[in-house]
Amino acid sequence: MKSLGPINALYPMPTTLVGTTVNGKPNFLAVAHVGILNHGTPQYLSIGLHKSHYSNAGIFENKSFSICLPSEDLIVEADYCGIMTGKKTDKAALFDIFYGQTKTAPMIRQCPVNMELNLYDVLDFSTHDIFIGELIETYADDSVLTDGGIDIAKLRPLLFDMAGKKYWSLGQAVGSCWNAGKSLKK
Ligand SMILES: Cc1cc2nc3c(=O)[nH]c(=O)nc-3n(C[C@H](O)[C@H](O)[C@H](O)COP(=O)(O)O)c2cc1C
Repeated sequence: MKSLGPINALYPMPTTLVGTTVNGKPNFLAVAHVGILNHGTPQYLSIGLHKSHYSNAGIFENKSFSICLPSEDLIVEADYCGIMTGKKTDKAALFDIFYGQTKTAPMIRQCPVNMELNLYDVLDFSTHDIFIGELIETYADDSVLTDGGIDIAKLRPLLFDMAGKKYWSLGQAVGSCWNAGKSLKK
């Protein structure tokens, strides 16, 4: 094994669009660094946003944000939201926007899955604000549901790889969780 130094190798990650209200207007930025902090209710998710971004102030002000999941089809718009800053560009004009319970976490009708969160806590890292949100509602388009649950084969998430700086698509399922390992049980 070759030592690579402390390289984060946890890719691919889904590309998300995080929605905020900044200075009274909706804004979206691309975020691949989303953390799942627990499994259960309440459900907590984290996002790591560089302090230079325009979006951060909106989360501090309104104590809410959304995490929207684009399909592969939205690659151009999603990438654009990761290139341009809301300081200079109205990125929200690209999308049909809707709001849920928070009224300040804009979500995107072109994204088949949208989650809205209330701000739970912030970790103040030197370069990044780590926003921890409590998930309060998830919205999904009928087209990505199977038996009422989100079907990732239908969602076709836009996967992000930092090492190769490429977007990837999902492959096939290769086995069942909490099941594949049973064949080794004595
Ligand atoms: C695919 C992709 C993923 C990104 N993920 C993150 C991330 O997890 N955290 C972050 O701080 N910036 C991330 N960025 C960069 C921001 O989206 C980008 O700097 C954006 O322009 C900031 O927008 P804002 O200034 O309107 O907030 C990502 C960019 C791309 C293209």
